[in-house]
Amino acid sequence: MKYFTSVHDVKSVEQMLQDALALKKNPLGFQHLGKGKTLGLVFLNQSLRTRLSTQKAGNNLGMNVIALNVGQESWTWEFDDNVVMNGAKVEHIKDAAAVMGQYCDVIGIRCFPSLTSREDDYNEKVINQFIKYCRVPVVSLESATRHPLQSFADLITITENWNKPSKPKVVLSWGHHIKPLPQSVANSFTEWMRNADVDFVVTHPEGYELSTEFTQGVKVTHNQDEALRGADFVYVKNWSSFEDYGQTPAVSGDWLLTPERMQITNNAKVMHCLPVRRNLEVSDSLLDGENSLILQQADNRLYAAQAVLKEILETNF
Ligand code: CP
Repeated sequence: MKYFTSVHDVKSVEQMLQDALALKKNPLGFQHLGKGKTLGLVFLNQSLRTRLSTQKAGNNLGMNVIALNVGQESWTWEFDDNVVMNGAKVEHIKDAAAVMGQYCDVIGIRCFPSLTSREDDYNEKVINQFIKYCRVPVVSLESATRHPLQSFADLITITENWNKPSKPKVVLSWGHHIKPLPQSVANSFTEWMRNADVDFVVTHPEGYELSTEFTQGVKVTHNQDEALRGADFVYVKNWSSFEDYGQTPAVSGDWLLTPERMQITNNAKVMHCLPVRRNLEVSDSLLDGENSLILQQADNRLYAAQAVLKEILETNF
């Protein structure tokens, strides 16, 4: 594996899942793999979990890790070709990525969508240019349309919390927010759940349909109660409209996940990738309750990143 940008880059999800679970028991067992190798982490957007877990994952594998906040600690980047750069952008991505590729053996990049140009975002304009020009293995730390390290950590978490022979019912439920958010976590979770042995349902208000590229073959309903009935895992996440791109159409009804609403589930576990808007998306009592998996998901970000980096180190060097 040279690039990790979606579930489609993974040769065997089951194998990488078993690798992550093994690394959780023995996180320092493969330090020889990263000896003398440098992992660069490039952030065009804010992060807590992704930055720290991927940095620690690299360190656990014996790698040197360097991180850069683009635009704050480095020059601002131009992404369009053939432009006269007489504006605010200081450096073209083709130069910046090529230089970083000389310093780093593996690079992780976080590049959120613009939420203004659906074409640019869904063509993954930024990460694809970065991949083209840096010439080294690249790990997505969340791109315009996907957050695969998060989804992999979520799959690890569901696996750890399900030991019955039947498939678990997993629900992705839209939650409220105060501003337009990317569709990337929802897209990615949907993509990974389609590849997992689960009964998967997506529920959201009208106007918040995800791209059919991700939901093809997936059960989708605007009726949150119908989706929640009998659920074993409920994953809450806000996203903005794909159709009316980046907008937040008016929502009728209250989509806040509360203990009352959870009563029709099968005593479901509660999931969220964090950061979460408490009592807007999910109530405090659920996030802090015994069925909450939010900290386990965050913990598993480390082993997801470590399994991905291990695979890249083993197959490229
Ligand atoms: N879940 C997640 O990606 O968290 P950060 O944005 O803090 O990295």
